[in-house]
Amino acid sequence: MRRLRLNQDWIGRIRLALTIVGLPYAVCKPETRLSSSSPLSIIHSPSAADWVHNPYTNTLRMTSSTVAPPPHLKSRCQPYPGSQIKRFPVPDDKVDWSMVWPQYLPVQHTDPNVASRPTWADPDLGSKAFSPRFNRVDGPVDRTSFLGDYELLQNRPLNPRGRTGLAGRGLLGRWGPNHAADPIVTRWKVDATGQKVSHPASRRPVLQFISIKRKDCGEWAVPGGMVDPGETVTLTLQREFSEEALNSLALPAAERAQTHQRITQLFTAPGLQVYRGYVDDPRNTDNAWMETVAVNFHDETGNSVSELPLQAGDDAGQVTWVDLDSAFPLYASHSHFLETVAKERGAHW
Ligand code: BGC
Repeated sequence: MRRLRLNQDWIGRIRLALTIVGLPYAVCKPETRLSSSSPLSIIHSPSAADWVHNPYTNTLRMTSSTVAPPPHLKSRCQPYPGSQIKRFPVPDDKVDWSMVWPQYLPVQHTDPNVASRPTWADPDLGSKAFSPRFNRVDGPVDRTSFLGDYELLQNRPLNPRGRTGLAGRGLLGRWGPNHAADPIVTRWKVDATGQKVSHPASRRPVLQFISIKRKDCGEWAVPGGMVDPGETVTLTLQREFSEEALNSLALPAAERAQTHQRITQLFTAPGLQVYRGYVDDPRNTDNAWMETVAVNFHDETGNSVSELPLQAGDDAGQVTWVDLDSAFPLYASHSHFLETVAKERGAHW
């Protein structure tokens, strides 16, 4: 366990200096573009040992691609989403916890909605009858991280990717990792005669994916969502897709059953896992962060899911097929996932 010592005199001076020099840290919107040339380590193809790490994900196939993970930029964005709160500014060279920084004084913030104890959120640390088992599958809640064991500082989980300038949980419900799942449903773009359309610049065929416009921030995204307690990732992928892109919760019973059958066919075929790990999400804090599993389900012939009527539901304001293209800005790390899909399938990016 590491100790962070704080010297109050220094804190004010450092804050002032950072404000004056205007250190580079991202704003939450618009999206900071991600590229595979990011100066960060490369995720290597996982070994067999990765599959036994987490029982919730062992049915999925892994890709062989190596694409750089997203940088820790959105996790330092200003202001913190859903608030006017300014994070303590963290320059690039101080993100890593191993850099000793006694002056670091993160702002404490847990959103009032999270603190009011909705069913999806943990109680506060120290509350009676709350003894989370960090780094373990804790009853129905998976508190393991895809990055391996994380450290605790004064009993609080420490963000494995480093400092964010904000302590507490912010908008996130769980202390430590908050697990999500992202279904990327694709098909080939075809013309009126059914021929694949190629992009004039890359000459590669164009893939399309189902995208939703998120109600919370207005950004386009993959229709993903949080893994419910006790739920498998496979089920979350299908449930979130059905709720957000097909509005399954509002369909009449007969139609819902039919949709369910069609979707189950697509989602039980082995998906192509394009990402599994930490997400550079604007909601991240020093003590709570997003992790996700992104899986591509591809409708090669265009006659399976492509025929289902899209209808936005739940957290989605709009839903539509969108061409995969590096110029299209997307929420959190979603561009990074789509880049991997395009590369794996030899499509335009
Ligand atoms: C979203 C996912 C996203 C994850 C991490 C979840 O709230 O629904 O689509 O990948 O957060 O940013």
